Amino acid sequence: MKVDVLLGLQWGDEGKGKVVDVLTPRYDVVARFQGGPNAGHTLEFEGKKYVLRSIPSGIFQHGQINIIGNGVVLDPILFMQEAEELRKSGIELRNILKISKKAHLIMPTHRLLDAANEKAKGGAKIGTTGKGIGPTYTDKISRNGIRLGDTLSPDFKAKYEAARNRHVAMLKSMGENPEFSELEANWLNAIDYIKSFDIIDSEFVINKLLASGKSVLCEGAQGTMLDVDFGSYPFVTSSNTITAGACAGLGVAPNKIGKVFGIFKAYCTRVGSGPFPTELFDETGKRIRDLGHEYGAVTGRERRCGWIDLVALKYAIMINGVTNLIMMKSDVLDDFDEIKACVAYEIDGTEVSDFPYSIETESLKPVYVTLPGWKTDMTKMKNESEFPENFKKYIEFLEQQLGTPISIVSIGPDREQTIIRNL
Ligand code: GDP
Ligand code: IMO
Ligand code: MG
Repeated sequence: MKVDVLLGLQWGDEGKGKVVDVLTPRYDVVARFQGGPNAGHTLEFEGKKYVLRSIPSGIFQHGQINIIGNGVVLDPILFMQEAEELRKSGIELRNILKISKKAHLIMPTHRLLDAANEKAKGGAKIGTTGKGIGPTYTDKISRNGIRLGDTLSPDFKAKYEAARNRHVAMLKSMGENPEFSELEANWLNAIDYIKSFDIIDSEFVINKLLASGKSVLCEGAQGTMLDVDFGSYPFVTSSNTITAGACAGLGVAPNKIGKVFGIFKAYCTRVGSGPFPTELFDETGKRIRDLGHEYGAVTGRERRCGWIDLVALKYAIMINGVTNLIMMKSDVLDDFDEIKACVAYEIDGTEVSDFPYSIETESLKPVYVTLPGWKTDMTKMKNESEFPENFKKYIEFLEQQLGTPISIVSIGPDREQTIIRNL
């Protein structure tokens, strides 16, 4: 019985999709447990690139069951688009994908509410992905949501209309005059499409698979600094992105969790608004963005770039119980003379190394340690013995600071550009 979890330790886009794909052959089941189409998980192999949003990243290897868990919010229109694109590439999901009855549905009016909420916040907007994530989770928690299982019942249409009318009243009270008849027709059509998939009681399916000796890899979306409880609130997403979210989002008990893979970039990025202590506004930040192609996989937005933040990483490792670290995009720093790592924050003249309640404080200044760059192209390396000395020293420094082994190092976007050190 084994449930391992892989999740982001920063503000998302750490490279979760790539590594889930690499690790998939070691598991029988891959499952998403939270988030929805706000995620954009990129995979590259055999010269092709795929971006997955709601569908788990375990679909490209062979033989695994992929599950969309109860903690996920699903937009039927976007799901249909994603599944159809994959079908055109020769991937028939109906054989390998199962979806929880308890997953909540993103309605057209949730998307409109997301936009209206952002508009109402003005300069304080969160910079959401606009996919209706916040309003859908709000309805779930306030017990107004619609679940995929509801589509199987004869009174589904009435349930949908009641929820829609409630949303329309909310939109009108915000001064909006919503028009979404075409979107609604597409949505209802997409509901019929999604009903042709295997809609299951996923908590039973997963626990029975575990009882029969199968292993599960849980794929996180977003990252710990976007977690609704522990992230940079209110500039966060609306779900628990942490290890505990895997238990709630799949119905697996905490004592079933084995390894926790915490994934991070050799530097740091953030997309959307909100505080980012190590953000670089200079040429170095621009250089990282250019070399790392740091543009959103979902929205195409520029990602904000900065140095690695060990204060935030240590916090994320603690909250998640990370057993193994995975460092991504090391190659992006291949040509830098110097690399900086933030080891503490200075707030009002006092040095702080525990992640503070608020990082929005004007006076917060990162305290950096500077390390020498390795000035070597690592993208074609096959074994860690080939790593340049200064890169080995960077790994050693991070492991010592973070008190956790770095088990995998990624040196390029392709599946093959992955060095497994110890697993
Ligand atoms: P996710 O949301 O965590 O799955 O990450 P994204 O797919 O949004 O963003 C990661 C981006 O970095 C994608 O474009 C990947 O193809 C790319 N990528 C992943 N690992 C590496 C790496 O080691 N080096 C480089 N240069 N790119 C990488
Ligand atoms: P993956 O899984 C990076 C950010 C948005 C915004 C905030 C809230 O690809 O790592 P939401 O639409 O969730 O209400 O937006 O969270 N955000 C992400 N940033 N990667 C993601 O997913 C993200 N999903 C949401 O930019 O700041
Ligand atoms: Mg992403």
